[in-house]
Amino acid sequence: MPSSFPPPQPRPAILQTPREVHGAITPAELARLGMDPGQVIDFSANINPYGPAPGVRSALTQVAIAAYPDPEARNLRQALAEHVRQPPARILPGHGASELIWLIALAFLDPGDRAAVLGPTYGEYARAARLMGAQTVSWLASPDDDFAVHPDAIAQMLGRVQPRLVFLCHPNNPTGQPYPLGALAQWAAAHPTALFVVDEAYLPFLADGRSALSLEASNILVLRSMTKDHALAGLRLGYAVGPDAVIDALAQVQPPWSVHAMAQAAGLASLAAQSWVDASLAQVREDARALRRALRALGWRPHPSATHFFLLPVEDGVQVREGLLRQGVVVRDAASFGLPGHVRIAARTPAENARLLEALGRAIA
Ligand SMILES: Cc1ncc(COP(=O)(O)O)c(C=O)c1O
Repeated sequence: MPSSFPPPQPRPAILQTPREVHGAITPAELARLGMDPGQVIDFSANINPYGPAPGVRSALTQVAIAAYPDPEARNLRQALAEHVRQPPARILPGHGASELIWLIALAFLDPGDRAAVLGPTYGEYARAARLMGAQTVSWLASPDDDFAVHPDAIAQMLGRVQPRLVFLCHPNNPTGQPYPLGALAQWAAAHPTALFVVDEAYLPFLADGRSALSLEASNILVLRSMTKDHALAGLRLGYAVGPDAVIDALAQVQPPWSVHAMAQAAGLASLAAQSWVDASLAQVREDARALRRALRALGWRPHPSATHFFLLPVEDGVQVREGLLRQGVVVRDAASFGLPGHVRIAARTPAENARLLEALGRAIA
């Protein structure tokens, strides 16, 4: 007998919050186009094209997968603590930085709270906040001045909104712009009860990037991802670094064993190969500079960026992406960032970058 009751409904915030669009082509889209993953070069996902580091794959073969992983990931925490020169109690590993963004919203936002987002930026900050029933308010950098950060305008917005949480990405995805840390220190001091979440997923891609950890503020939490610089996106690994009490609150709401045994082993092996990772990132910086130079020589006008990815103004980002995809080259159309006249490109190896340059010419011909 079918029931006469409608199915149980989730919370209204869940029905009202759309899913986010991400880079990286999905198997579903490849299947729609009749292509297989070996046929495409992915410039859309901002991942170190030279990784993962040597030693990671063999470490994975040693993992005891029938046993539960260490729920506190103590060895990994210790290695991360040495890497960032902070005590282990100030660190929480997560199932990618994404999990940590969601845990922050879960631990720090009540329905009706306000969260400020400095954009245009990674969509999961606003999404996680909205799923908790919070309101989000954004300050948006503009393509008209190459997405420059305007500290006074941001300070005014924060003063008006009085947020409980502030999300910013340093350097920012998709603009590649870092934030002036002096300004961040002032905002954090002016709003001591707000938690400033500084997502440093891409900081390791900068030669001389300065971390918000250097500010030693009691209301700044830094997020790092090991999926980008260490190229472990399939394994899902990130970490938060910040005040003990904030770390404890996140640990309190984290599902058990969410950093699985393979991720813990891969993280340890990859941190042990940090000098290899650093050398590969120096090469990525060089490749990105060469790619931007080549684009400019062909008449393109990429926006300046401190990272290996950058925004490229085009007529119609969706069309350019489609034109490239048909040639086996994937870029990120920036429509979901509110920038339909841009695509985002993450530099890859010189040979792959040459393929992109050829395909781009044909895509707009
Ligand atoms: C700014 C930013 N933060 C976090 C993430 C998610 O990182 P993870 O793969 O560690 O979940 C991404 C992924 O694209 C990102 O761009």
